[in-house]
Amino acid sequence: MVNIRTAQPKDVPQLVVLLQTLFAIEADFDFDADKQARGLQLLLHSDNACIWVAELASGNGLCAMCSLQILISTAEGGEVGLLEDLVVAADVHNQGIGAKLLAEVVKWAKQRGLKRLQLLADKNNAPALGFYQRQGWQSTQLVCLRRVISEKK
Ligand SMILES: CC(C)(COP(=O)(O)OP(=O)(O)OC[C@H]1O[C@@H](n2cnc3c(N)ncnc32)[C@H](O)[C@@H]1OP(=O)(O)O)[C@@H](O)C(=O)NCCC(=O)NCCS
Repeated sequence: MVNIRTAQPKDVPQLVVLLQTLFAIEADFDFDADKQARGLQLLLHSDNACIWVAELASGNGLCAMCSLQILISTAEGGEVGLLEDLVVAADVHNQGIGAKLLAEVVKWAKQRGLKRLQLLADKNNAPALGFYQRQGWQSTQLVCLRRVISEKK
């Protein structure tokens, strides 16, 4: 029903639409199409990042996405991955697409020799937290802090 592949520059407009869905439910982020398009372009051109998409076999476009960026961890003594932007279009939830996308990312991470994957999730997003737990992700004692450096567009 879906084909998982890595994203290409031509996908950016559809990815921006998927990110709009995601940011609408995440209290810490505001949707801004230009910023999201710039971020996607940076990911697509980075040697240390990848975006995967799920494409409907019916030819109706992209229905899900997920990104991964590589970081160096002193704790692990090697490379780890930061998973972000996992979102499945609402009309195709609960059909195994999120799990399939995540499995592809984990497969890639293993092949690349990453030691661990990590992600941030909205603490009030119970469906996503349940989904990750059932996919084998564990909670940690860490909390996320942030400091804004620049508000420039
Ligand atoms: C969280 C999210 C990514 C999950 O994606 P999804 O495609 O709906 O997830 P799946 O279909 O793979 O899995 C969901 C459930 O459907 C079940 N399922 C899988 N295939 C199925 C099928 N063919 N028929 C019915 N159910 C199925 C799975 O068993 C799973 O059940 P579980 O959660 O009880 O284990 C999706 O809900 C989403 O995009 N949410 C909004 C954005 C978001 O919160 N992103 C996370 C940000 S941190």
